Parts: sequence; C-alpha cells; structure tokens
Amino acid sequence: MTRIVITGATGAIGQALAAVYARPGNRLILHGRQRDVLETLADNCRDAGAEVELSQVELGQAEPGQFEQGQFKQNKDDALFAWLESLCAPSVPDIVIVNAGMNINIGEDGSGERWEDASRLLEINLRVPMAMGNFLGKRMRAAGRGQLVLMSSLAAYHGLPVTPSYSASKAGVKAYGEALRGWLAPYGVGVSVVMPGYVSSKMCHEMPGPKPFLWQPERAAKVIARGIERNRARISFPFPLNFGCWWLAVLPAAISQRLLNWLGYDPDHGDGAH
Ligand SMILES: NC(=O)c1ccc[n+]([C@@H]2O[C@H](COP(=O)([O-])OP(=O)(O)OC[C@H]3O[C@@H](n4cnc5c(N)ncnc54)[C@H](OP(=O)(O)O)[C@@H]3O)[C@@H](O)[C@H]2O)c1
Repeated sequence: MTRIVITGATGAIGQALAAVYARPGNRLILHGRQRDVLETLADNCRDAGAEVELSQVELGQAEPGQFEQGQFKQNKDDALFAWLESLCAPSVPDIVIVNAGMNINIGEDGSGERWEDASRLLEINLRVPMAMGNFLGKRMRAAGRGQLVLMSSLAAYHGLPVTPSYSASKAGVKAYGEALRGWLAPYGVGVSVVMPGYVSSKMCHEMPGPKPFLWQPERAAKVIARGIERNRARISFPFPLNFGCWWLAVLPAAISQRLLNWLGYDPDHGDGAH
C-alpha cells in the first residue's frame, strides 16, 4: 500500500492531486481545514478505489490577533510534530506533498501588506514546510526511503511587486527544497520542488496582475504527479512562463524589474492594484 500525504487538500490543486492518486493500492492522508470539503473529497477518492484518512491538525502557529497583541503562542508545533510522528507509524509515508499555502498582496491602493497577514503567510507558506521537511527529512533519511514534495511557485525566480511576502516565502521554499534534496539524495530519499505558473484556484483569482497561460488544476496535478514519479528536482510549468521567469532570475535585476513593469506586474497595472 502506497501512503500519500497531501496538505491543503481542500484547495484546487490539492483536490486535483488527491483525484490523481485516488486508485486501488493507495492510501491517501488528506489534510485540510474544511471538514465538509474533505468528506466529499474522501468519498470521491474511496469511490475510485483508494483508502482515505482525514486530518485537520492545525499546521501553523501564529493566529490573527496574536501578533497585534505582541505575543506568539510558544508551541503549537507540538500538535504538528505529534501528527508527523503518527504519520511515520508503522513506517514513513511514501510521498508527502506540502501543498497548503496562502497569498496576500499590497492592496488595491498599493498601500502595502499588513504585517499581521505577512506574518501568517510566512508561517503557513515557509515555516510549516520547513518544519515538515526538518522532521520528515530525518525520518525518511533513517528509513532510507520516501519523497518530500514542496510547493513553491514561479514567483520564486524573481519577486513580484504586488506580492512581496508571497514571493519571498516561495523563494525560501525553493531554496530549502533544493538543499534538502542534496542532503537526502545519498540516503535514497527524493525531494521535489514544484513551481507552478497560474493555476485556476481561489488564491490565484484573488491575486492581482495578469495571469498568462492559466492552467486548470487537473492538468497541473497530472504534471506534478508525473514529476514526482520521476523524482524530478524541479517540477515547473507551463514551459513559456517558466522559461520567462527563469530569465528574470538570470538577467541583471534592473533589467528584470523593467521587464516586469513592462509586462504589467508593477503596482500601477495589476488588476485592482492601483
Ligand atoms: N494557483 C496558483 O496559481 C499557484 C501558483 C503557484 C503556486 N501555488 C501554490 O499551490 C498551493 C495550492 O494552492 P491552490 O492554488 O490550490 O490554492 P487554494 O485553492 O486557495 O488552496 C489553498 C490550500 O491551502 C490551505 N491553507 C491556506 N491557509 C492555510 C492555513 N493557515 N492552514 C492550513 N491550511 C491552509 C487551504 O485550506 P482551506 O481550504 O481551509 O482554506 C487550501 O486547502 C499553494 O501552496 C500555492 O501557493 C499556486
């Protein structure tokens, strides 16, 4: 039985990934906050022949209000680590897809991100993937098997002016995943960093700016699963946008920034961001 963990399974890409892996011989551990969405997804996956377990453990530490009150709860990581420990019994999962994530932007008037929101974003987009990589990387290394999949973004190649914190979090995930891959490869553990372009989802549509080469989540999930099967270091798509964004990282920053403005990613041109 192949055990596959997917966080953010209630989202567009998470649900599409669950559907791709829903078949006899697979046991899916689907994580999400919306119980009703998870239950419906679980029913569909069971109909397709998979075994399904659900989890609603809280992934992040910081909650709205905590930062404003100048305090972070010290260790909600305990719940996350207890869950990860349970996932490693009787043996480490075969594939763990760390997919949950959120996005914020500088606002319609371009006034900037609220720090409280940025802090929450860093928690779920970067700190939690690192905590999961830290814990599961060691367990998989000891077991000599397993595969970690971290969800980054093409925004990791060069920061987008309308989404500074999101870009930073995804660049951090990309670097972390690349480093883990180098650390764990000699022990038979795979690590893949996924860098999607625009994939139709709640988060995607809430993001300002142009959305060229928009893909449907089902198409993205198939490409991601194929990359995971081949243990690709980087699973990035679609090709034209990937190639363009890669150049943004390679060119001198002053040229890349001019190109981004020209393409409509400056704060004065993003949809709704003036
Ligand atoms: N769509 C794109 O264009 C695109 C491009 C590049 C990268 N990505 C990445 O792909 C991943 C999936 O995104 P998506 O497009 O499928 O977006 P989505 O439909 O909005 O789904 C986001 C998922 O993350 C979960 N999530 C958000 N904040 C959370 C929190 N604080 N604690 C626990 N779960 C949380 C959501 O749970 P709830 O349902 O409970 O809110 C949902 O399951 C994200 O990491 C995203 O950054 C997406």
